[in-house]
Amino acid sequence: MRILNVNLGNRTYPIFIEADGFEKAAKKILRQCDSKTYIIISDENVASHYYEKLTSFLEQGEAKCYLYKITPGEESKSLTTAEQIYTWMLANRFHRDDLIIALGGGVVGDLAGFIAATYLRGIRWVQIPTTLMAQVDSSVGGKVGVNHPLAKNSIGAFYQPQLVWIDPSTLKTLPCREIYNGLAEVIKYGLILDPEFFEFLEINFDKIVSLQDSELLNQIIKTCCRLKSMVVEKDERETDYRRILNFGHTIGHALENITDYRYFRHGEAVAWGMLAAAAISQKSLSLPSDQFIRIESMMLLLEKPALPIDFAADQIVQAIQSDKKMTSEGLKFVLLESIGNSRVEFVNRELIEFGVNYLLTINKKGRT
Ligand SMILES: NC(=O)c1ccc[n+]([C@@H]2O[C@H](COP(=O)([O-])OP(=O)(O)OC[C@H]3O[C@@H](n4cnc5c(N)ncnc54)[C@H](O)[C@@H]3O)[C@@H](O)[C@H]2O)c1
Ligand SMILES: [Zn+2]
Repeated sequence: MRILNVNLGNRTYPIFIEADGFEKAAKKILRQCDSKTYIIISDENVASHYYEKLTSFLEQGEAKCYLYKITPGEESKSLTTAEQIYTWMLANRFHRDDLIIALGGGVVGDLAGFIAATYLRGIRWVQIPTTLMAQVDSSVGGKVGVNHPLAKNSIGAFYQPQLVWIDPSTLKTLPCREIYNGLAEVIKYGLILDPEFFEFLEINFDKIVSLQDSELLNQIIKTCCRLKSMVVEKDERETDYRRILNFGHTIGHALENITDYRYFRHGEAVAWGMLAAAAISQKSLSLPSDQFIRIESMMLLLEKPALPIDFAADQIVQAIQSDKKMTSEGLKFVLLESIGNSRVEFVNRELIEFGVNYLLTINKKGRT
């Protein structure tokens, strides 16, 4: 078993990584959290695969499990669903000693964490992430929340769990598109923080995608959790340094936004955004051209939908401007000096247009 700690003073918590580990997960939760009531929040897909597997080990002695199943998908990450869950929890008289377990991907994790942060002003919670995106990214760092019709992820809190249990074998039931979705964030960690990890991903790309080598997967997940927790430990509430995790996200969010959050998975839009950010980095920060070519090759390996054909550079710049404040100096943007070495810089409108136009050229060449 691999274990690492996210060191945040009295909010420190461990992340356990172990394949086929539901029995051990249940034992760990029983021992460490010692609750009589486990409130499991999951979605229909994940619950059908893993709810019984988990609860058969959890329901020992007096412990009792309750399940709330949400409809899979981003639309469930809403105040409406949160309210339905609060009502169900109050009707069942769940109290502050009870424990929430988020069993699912990032949607379940963000929503269940938000419920945990707010129900009776905060109750304990545990995450069992089941998508690659959740195992390498959303389960680390305590950002929890829901979407508002006017802005995604805009209502939320920083609220750390008691522990995170990652079982990489759950990825075997995950649709292939979701693997590529999570891989975009995996690659991001190499690009912003760790050149050797990026090289490792280049060498092992095919093996990773095939999910055949569980040791390799464990290693990748652990590296991402380690890199993200290192950033979170330095800047838990994203006042400054944590912003480097947004590499590729400015243009990525704009792409998600102009396509109504229905066309791209988050990681797919971020993959396009990282490619544009790399092009801007080459122009404005002198990212070496051989490194730019490596990034371009890696991004083109990541399967993702092409940019919509009616898409114009202007639209995306406008979407960025409505999302982020552009000052006279420009927009704060994460760029790469070299692979593994990132920096937040002001970027002006012309440079953003340059990055977006580069994407359009790639798109026209049909190289996706
Ligand atoms: N809190 C953070 O720091 C953070 C970071 C990144 C992303 N996020 C959030 O995460 C969300 C996206 O999460 P996601 O990509 O995990 O998507 P998701 O939770 O919607 O899961 C994707 C799909 O896979 C299914 N699924 C999940 N695990 C499965 C499994 N093991 N087997 C079969 N099917 C499975 C789900 O039912 C769903 O249909 C977004 O809302 C995003 O904002 C949060
Ligand atoms: Zn992201």
